[in-house]
Amino acid sequence: MEARSMVVSVLRDLMSNANDGQARKPVIVRKYLAAVVLNTISRLMIGKEFGTEEGQEFKSIVEKEHLLSGSGTLFDHVWWLKWVSSWFISDKEFLGHKDRRTKWFRGAIMVEEDVPIEDHKGFVRKLLVLKEQKELSEETVGGLVWNMLTAGADTTAVVIEWAMAEMIKCPTVQQKAQQELDSVVGKQRLMSESDIPKLPYLQCVVKEALRLHPSTPLMLPHKASETVWVGGYKVPKGATVYVNVQAIGRDPANWRNPYEFRPERFLQEETDVKGRDFRVLPFGSGRRMCPAAQLSMNLMTLVMGNLLQCFSWSSPIPGEKIDMSENPGLLCNMRTPLQAIALPRAASRVIPLPLDLNRNVIT
Ligand code: HEM
Repeated sequence: MEARSMVVSVLRDLMSNANDGQARKPVIVRKYLAAVVLNTISRLMIGKEFGTEEGQEFKSIVEKEHLLSGSGTLFDHVWWLKWVSSWFISDKEFLGHKDRRTKWFRGAIMVEEDVPIEDHKGFVRKLLVLKEQKELSEETVGGLVWNMLTAGADTTAVVIEWAMAEMIKCPTVQQKAQQELDSVVGKQRLMSESDIPKLPYLQCVVKEALRLHPSTPLMLPHKASETVWVGGYKVPKGATVYVNVQAIGRDPANWRNPYEFRPERFLQEETDVKGRDFRVLPFGSGRRMCPAAQLSMNLMTLVMGNLLQCFSWSSPIPGEKIDMSENPGLLCNMRTPLQAIALPRAASRVIPLPLDLNRNVIT
């Protein structure tokens, strides 16, 4: 349902561009991805989408949070430089942020309000039942919900944006995925989640995007619970450990032409990307690995499938000039948001549009 709204939203923007005489004006791809992912996750969490204002405030809080958490990172790890962190962010700023977050959270999720459990929906409802049964604290419930929301929203959208950029740079990959969609799904209906198992090439596109562009290149920090030796290096007990999964996925010892976006490499051999094959670990591995690996892979396949089924994507500038540089941080997104020209393919037939929109479909 969210994917369908995304397609309608792209079409709407195309129509309004066409009405302004700018039929081939590029769209900012990120805008649609952020919305479809947040809406899907909020539906899972609270059984409905956040309102527009709630969604925007959430995005802004998360952006601020990334800024605050990445602000003094280096200094936080060198004990005699810790005091330098306060140059960048004051305690007051942290506290102000915490209050803003709590206010949003209470309003949007209603966890701490006096709302009966039966009136809640989705994951929050399940958690509230567990809270009664297992005596979980408000803080635990709130922390879990916040974790799911923040860990899920941007991570998924970031990988899709990279994948779309790679497919615009490499039209043969895009066409192959579209041919597969046309032959499996056809042009009479929109691709749905139940089609995913029948779309092996599209699934490989998702895996290849996760290999080359894992959204959290250094995963989340871990703490060594024991002193261990890894590859001749001593990792002392208590040390903070970052695993560079981006470098692992691009290691020429494991991958031929690692910087080439070639989904076919995953067709040739069955490769697990959910923590069992140590050559590609976008979701981490072991007990702390991402609990939503399958969910987010399905979501990525569905969103990309819909975008490719309904539109052909190209760049307003030559493909080789697309800025593929990375924004450093906990999340590695494209430094320059991807701009693309979308030409409708099957969309006008699979989505019943209001007449005035249908009349203007670009073919
Ligand atoms: C492309 C999408 C995603 C990627 C690449 C990704 C990646 C990761 C990684 C690398 C970790 C840390 C693993 C570790 O440090 O060992 C993680 C943790 C986590 N992820 Fe994801 N994730 C994605 C999507 C999602 C989604 C959609 C959700 C929820 C709806 C989610 C929820 C979580 C949570 C709650 C944790 C923390 C687990 C813990 O601390 O024990 N992630 N994710």
